[in-house]
Amino acid sequence: MSMQLSPIGAIARRALTTATRQATTAASAMPSRPLTAEEKEKLAPMIRVDQSGEVGAYYIYKGQIAVLGHDPNLRPLLQEMWDQEKKHLKYFSDLVGHHRVRPSLLRPIWEVAGFAVGAGTALLGKEAAMACTEAVETVIGHHYNDQLRELATIKDDNEDLVHLKKIIAECRDEELEHHDIAVAHDAQRAPFHSALSAVIKQGCKTAIWIAERV
Ligand SMILES: [Fe+2]
Ligand SMILES: [Fe+2]
Repeated sequence: MSMQLSPIGAIARRALTTATRQATTAASAMPSRPLTAEEKEKLAPMIRVDQSGEVGAYYIYKGQIAVLGHDPNLRPLLQEMWDQEKKHLKYFSDLVGHHRVRPSLLRPIWEVAGFAVGAGTALLGKEAAMACTEAVETVIGHHYNDQLRELATIKDDNEDLVHLKKIIAECRDEELEHHDIAVAHDAQRAPFHSALSAVIKQGCKTAIWIAERV
């Protein structure tokens, strides 16, 4: 369904697009110093864990859709979130290539664990699937905010760094939208909500710790 913009809305949108384009051009014209060895060392585990997290998220939604995708009310919602996870994964896979970061050696585990958590909670019902999303996206939202705080300590005159921060902020915003969608769709009515949530959050934190290193 396409939304008709009023003439004023269309003008505002054009102005915004032009402003965004000018800002992007200004950023790419910004003089960029190379990253120091120490900064590269700081960025590598961040990019590695973020790629791993997005692999996990991709498979969580894949698992949810495998179980609940037949529900005509849920399917578009799950599909939209899955499509955003696909985009996030592409962002971080491109960054892994660009920065020549060693990817996590445990990718097959992130895939299997993600699918198992997504499908497993979906088998408990729609509310449990949403509780899973609520828990995962809470941890990931905090994780991306922690990274942004850490990156704020590096001098902002490198275009790779500016780009990385932009990607992390965009992903963080979308993860928090996923969290809000899950809460709006009865996550907190899941059976054993607080226990389920605590187990999933702890699992995510442990996976983050491992994926930064391995
Ligand atoms: Fe994501
Ligand atoms: Fe997400």
